[in-house]
Amino acid sequence: MIEIIGPLDNPLTATAQGGADKPAPLQKQLIERLQQAILTGRLPAGSLLPSSRLLAAEMGVSRNTVVIAYEHLAAVGYVVADKQGTRVSPLSSPSARGEPRVQPAAPQAAYAARVGQFAATRTHADNTLPLTPGTPALDRFPVTAWRRALERAMEHGLPEALGYGTPAGEPALRDAIAAHLRMARGVRCDGSQVVITEGAQEALNLCVRLFTNPGDVAWVEDPGYRGAKAAFNLGDLTTLPMPVDPEGMAVPPDAWHTHPPKLIYTSPAHQYPTGAVLSVARRLELIARARRVGAWLIEDDYDGEFRHTGEPIASMQGLVEDAPVLYVGSFSKTMFPALRIGFVVLPRAIAAHTAVAVQEMLRGGHRLEQLALAHFIGSGEFGRHLGRMRRLYRDRQQALREALNAHFAPSQILGGNCGMHLTLRLPASIVDSNLTARALAQGFNPRALSGFALQPRAETNGLVIGYGNTPAERLAPAIRVLAGLAGEMEGKPKRGRKAG
Ligand SMILES: Cc1ncc(COP(=O)(O)O)c(C=O)c1O
Repeated sequence: MIEIIGPLDNPLTATAQGGADKPAPLQKQLIERLQQAILTGRLPAGSLLPSSRLLAAEMGVSRNTVVIAYEHLAAVGYVVADKQGTRVSPLSSPSARGEPRVQPAAPQAAYAARVGQFAATRTHADNTLPLTPGTPALDRFPVTAWRRALERAMEHGLPEALGYGTPAGEPALRDAIAAHLRMARGVRCDGSQVVITEGAQEALNLCVRLFTNPGDVAWVEDPGYRGAKAAFNLGDLTTLPMPVDPEGMAVPPDAWHTHPPKLIYTSPAHQYPTGAVLSVARRLELIARARRVGAWLIEDDYDGEFRHTGEPIASMQGLVEDAPVLYVGSFSKTMFPALRIGFVVLPRAIAAHTAVAVQEMLRGGHRLEQLALAHFIGSGEFGRHLGRMRRLYRDRQQALREALNAHFAPSQILGGNCGMHLTLRLPASIVDSNLTARALAQGFNPRALSGFALQPRAETNGLVIGYGNTPAERLAPAIRVLAGLAGEMEGKPKRGRKAG
């Protein structure tokens, strides 16, 4: 037997590290060795184990140690005791039955077909690096006020808030969000229509689950937000790319007949990533047509709060009464991404109709954070923070624009008066993903515009450049490095040039 399971290590021998790697007690070692031998087929089903007396003598342990080990193995079904002694049970794994080992199943067979639909174009670089799009100014977050809100939630909410919450979210937060959206974004809603989710991503997944069946058609902006495409893939939808121009999503009129949609993803206030604002004419057209074909419009208002100057662009949801709009929001930009709190505002009638399904699908966690956020909004801290960030991002965008203007033609720069990123179109001679790889090696993390495209083409060769988390004074030096890399790729001299 010792040839099959090997000699046991003496647990009384301490190692050089002072016993940190001390062997397990003999009984535990014996149980593990025998289990392994049975699972791998070295002790095949049906084979008779030596008597406890014999094995104890062979292994140099007490008989009691072997008896207890055999009893343990019998209790969990590895062995059975019969008239002849202790025998290995017939287990279902082929190796335990002594059959030859087979290769693990090929990946195609092991995974759902949709797994292959996720294109690996995103770099999972550190999202706090300069020029990363989508990361807000983390070092400007009012940590002290947030800590106070969390402490207050603990004072008032414990111990109840440690239990499961209402699946649709804390009523206090739903009410606070509704009040804020009515005032700041012109959304027509009350708290009963708000469902709290784990960020906008879960809100998108929820929209897919509630409003589509596998095979339904979904339209997405192209280039557009990858999270929307991921949600549609998860729902086994047929995703149709829709072009984007300076007025936002531009639907070819015949698409309503040839590929009638069930869901339409839009980012009207600030198209992601081109920065276009969806014109009122197109908003009204989308609402009217969606109504006619029975489709739902997802309005992703991910950074609509950050209009730098002038009046904010009001939501599409609030444009007309009972618009077929699912308004999705997130605190990833307005607070911080790791908070993982987002929401969807459902039309009033739909909210009542889907309440039971929502209750079954969600669990209602992060209660203390939700209560703290409700207080943070209600006390005015949130509004003050937004005001400060709006001014900060305005200054940072201006610095980025000036830096880009020094090296690139203004016509290449896309993006409006909003948000935390600008988009730079590149000539075909500079492949955007090559440029981002080189930039990353220098510690900068702009994203390749082509990575946002379902159908990459000349207009989707470029960079999405974030300024949210990059101080204004670091933008010009960073863009100088980018321009230098772009120049090298084009084979042009480093200075005194404008790419494109
Ligand atoms: C267009 C868009 N929508 C939504 C989000 C926020 O997603 P989440 O709330 O899941 O972090 C982002 C974040 O990058 C985004 O770019």
